[in-house]
Amino acid sequence: MDIPGPDPRTDGGVGAIAAAGGLHHYQRWLHAQYGPVVRFQLPGADTAVSIADPVLLEATAHLDQRPERLFDFLTPLFEAGNLQVLPADEHTPWRRLLLSVLAGRPSHERHFARFTALTTALADQWAGKAGHEPVALQKDLTALALRMICAYALGGDDAAPDSVIDAFEVVLTEYLGRLYEVAGPDPGEERAERAAEALTHLRTAVDRIVAAHRSGGGADRSDLIGALVSAGERPARIRDTVMMSLLAAHHTTGVAISWTLHLLGDHPDVAERVADELDDVLGDRTAPAYADLRRLTQLDMVLKESMRLRPPGPYGARETDEAIDLGDYEIPAGATVFYPFWAIHMNPLHWPEPERFRPERFTPQEVAKRPRLAYVPFGFGPRGCEGAALATVEAQLVLAVLLKRFRFRPVPGHEVTPVERFVLWAADDIRMTVTPRRAR
Ligand code: HEM
Repeated sequence: MDIPGPDPRTDGGVGAIAAAGGLHHYQRWLHAQYGPVVRFQLPGADTAVSIADPVLLEATAHLDQRPERLFDFLTPLFEAGNLQVLPADEHTPWRRLLLSVLAGRPSHERHFARFTALTTALADQWAGKAGHEPVALQKDLTALALRMICAYALGGDDAAPDSVIDAFEVVLTEYLGRLYEVAGPDPGEERAERAAEALTHLRTAVDRIVAAHRSGGGADRSDLIGALVSAGERPARIRDTVMMSLLAAHHTTGVAISWTLHLLGDHPDVAERVADELDDVLGDRTAPAYADLRRLTQLDMVLKESMRLRPPGPYGARETDEAIDLGDYEIPAGATVFYPFWAIHMNPLHWPEPERFRPERFTPQEVAKRPRLAYVPFGFGPRGCEGAALATVEAQLVLAVLLKRFRFRPVPGHEVTPVERFVLWAADDIRMTVTPRRAR
C-alpha cells in the first residue's frame, strides 16, 4: 500500500511547513490528517516518512544514522566531524564513553551541591520580584541550565566563568539565527566575526581544562573531560564533545522546567499536591538531597506529563539504507525516517484526551499498559539522548527548590505560544508571578 500524504508541490514542501508554523506543528497536522504513517516533502530529504505509532516504530529502532543534510547547520561548530551525524563505527565508542559519565550516579552526586547553589541563587533573585514583578521563566531557566551544564562539563566550582557562558550564547545565537533566519541588530558579517571569536574563546577555555587534567593525572567517572582524556580522545574531539554537551543540554533542560511550571500554573490543584509532597519529604529544608529525588513521585509524574505535552526536542530523524516493512507499508531504502516525538505523545490510541494535563498517566500501572515507545521525550535507539538521566536529575532538583519556595501564577492576558526554535520554545517567553509559599 502507498504511504499516505499530501500531494507533492513544486516548492519541495517548504510552503506547507512554513504555513503550519514549522516542522513540529506540521508533523502533528500531518498525522491528524493522514494517520500514523505519513509521507511528506522536505527540502534536503528526497523521501521523508514520519511514524507516530509506537508499535510500528519498533521496526526502525535499530537505525543508527542521522540524515547529514538536516544537521549541516551545526557542522561549523565541530572540528573533528559533526557529532550529530558521526558514522556508527566512530559514534558507538563515543556514545559508550559519554553514557559511562552522564548516565552514572557518581557524576550526578558529585555536581549536586553546585547545581543546588546555582538554583538557590536564581530563587533568591526571584524572591526580590515576588508579588510585584513577573519573572521570565524561559529566559532565566535556560540561563540556569547553561550554568549547570558548564559547571558539570567543565568541572570545578569556578570553572564556568561568565565569559564562557557569554561566548556560548554568542555562538548559539549566530548558528541558530542562521537556521531560522532571525535578523539580529548587527550586520551579518560582524555577527559572524563575533561568533568566530567566541568559538575560539570557548575552545581555548576547554583546552586549558584539558591541560590541567593531563598534568593532574587519573580521572574518575564523574568527570566528563577527565574520562575523555583518559580514554585517549584527541583534543579536537574533546572540545567538540564539550560543545555538543552544552548545546544539547542548555535549551532542552531549561524549557523542560519552564513548560512544567507553566502547566502547573494552569493546574493549581496538581501544584498543591506537589507542594504537599515537598513538605512531606523535605520538611524544613529548602532543597532536596540527591537521595530525596526518588521519593518525589508526584513531581516525577508531573515532569513526565509536561515533557509529553511539551516535548523539549519535538522530533528526531534517521536514515535507512535498506527497505523496512512497516505493517501495511514499506519504507523505501534511502528514505529519511522521522520520529515525530510530539505527535507520538499526542497519539489518542495510547493517550486518551491527549491535550489534557494528567500526571496520573505516569503511575507504574498506567505506564505498564502502554507500548515502550509511546513516551519518548529523549528519543530512542543508538542515537537516543545520552543526557536523559542527568537532565532528569537537574529538572527534578530545580523544580523541587522552586516549588518548595514559591507559588507560580499565570500573568493575566499573557499568551504563551509554543513555536519551533530548535527546541519547543515559547514565542514570547513564559511570564509568571511568583509568591512565597509557607510550608504546612
Ligand atoms: C530535558 C532535557 C533534554 C531533553 C528533552 C533531551 C532530548 C534529546 C533528544 C530528543 C535527542 C535526540 C534523540 C534522537 O535522535 O533519538 C537528544 C540528543 C542528545 N542529547 Fe539530549 N535532551 C536533554 C538534555 C540533555 C543533556 C542534559 C545532555 C547532556 C550533555 C544531553 C545530551 C545529548 C546528546 C549528546 C545527544 C546526541 C545523541 C547522539 O547523537 O548520540 N541532552 N536529546
